[in-house]
Amino acid sequence: MLTLWSKLRRLGVVGLNARNHSYVMKYNRRESYPLVDDKLLTKRLAIAAGIAVPRLYGAVATQHDLAKLPEILGNHKEFVIKPAHGSGGEGVLVIDGKRKELYVKPDGRALSLDEIKYHASNILSGIYSLGGIPDSAMIEYRVRVNPILDPISYRGVPDVRLLVFRGVPAMAMIRLPTRYSDGKANLHQGAVGVGIDIASGVTVDGVFQSRVVQEHPDFGVLLGGLQIPDWEAMLELGARCYDLTGLGYMGVDIVLDRVRGPMILEINARPGLAIQIANQSGLQGRLDCIEALDEIPADPKERVRLSVELFGAKEAPPSPPPSPASGRGSSADVEEELVIGAAPKQPPLPPAGEGGGEGGP
Ligand SMILES: Nc1ncnc2c1ncn2[C@@H]1O[C@H](COP(=O)(O)OP(=O)(O)O)[C@@H](O)[C@H]1O
Ligand SMILES: [Mg+2]
Repeated sequence: MLTLWSKLRRLGVVGLNARNHSYVMKYNRRESYPLVDDKLLTKRLAIAAGIAVPRLYGAVATQHDLAKLPEILGNHKEFVIKPAHGSGGEGVLVIDGKRKELYVKPDGRALSLDEIKYHASNILSGIYSLGGIPDSAMIEYRVRVNPILDPISYRGVPDVRLLVFRGVPAMAMIRLPTRYSDGKANLHQGAVGVGIDIASGVTVDGVFQSRVVQEHPDFGVLLGGLQIPDWEAMLELGARCYDLTGLGYMGVDIVLDRVRGPMILEINARPGLAIQIANQSGLQGRLDCIEALDEIPADPKERVRLSVELFGAKEAPPSPPPSPASGRGSSADVEEELVIGAAPKQPPLPPAGEGGGEGGP
């Protein structure tokens, strides 16, 4: 483990303090936070801009409205219920089939309608939401995994995380559900994170519970060398989210539906730092490079081209040595945030804009 930390430090890893002060607070306007902290709002915004998202079947905002749940679920055998203000996969319930009257989860457990209502009621009470505030439960289309990704996804949909800085994709990873993560692709729920070469969309090694791994923990198949389908379209979606939200520093999560193609699942204004471990590479050099650009192209396609030129295949320009004074690559909190996979339930996040952790990378 220590070798990994020291390697990352040499490679210019960005720590929590640097992320918060040099990027999140500097490049993200406060007014933009609600657009991404509320998944219902993000969905509306994306639809208005013609960006694909999983279809909303309905939303429940009050305990009284829970009576409408059976009508919202209708005849859907597959769906996802999640808190509009959730993070880290907490409170996300994936249902991937029905057995008579029961709803079946990816781990095989079956739930009655009452249990589903109880889960939705917990969401409403705010136990999964930012700061514990009362929340809405949203019920949406369950994305179906693309067959190419099927052999490396344990009963769930992987998501691609793009770290986008000033509208330019800077780093990418894909998170794969495992037997532990119950259909979810959050590292804190036990998913594997796998680095991606940004120019080609080909995977490299992965990280699972803070260890670098070459194979999927459930299937034993190699994680590296896989071409992510629709890669350019994904990079473009990520770049477009800059125009959508105005967030200068963000994480964009994209899923690949087998029929509908790439879709935005969520956008994060305080993206986690574990993407650096998955790529075994620090972000600092890449962020410095983008920050040094006098002008950023207005066209998302051009920003993608720029990203591919700057960060593809061959490494980004060498990173500066870590300087403790700037908080870059040196804080113990990086280590804490990067101890992934084994983490217990996350505490609620501080209010938007206060620069806390992502609550699960
Ligand atoms: N509509 C969906 N279809 C299939 N899987 C989903 C869907 N929504 C969420 N998931 C799974 O649950 C994980 C967490 O959901 P997400 O919406 O990203 O919430 P969070 O903010 O808690 O990470 C995703 O990475 C994905 O694996
Ligand atoms: Mg997520």
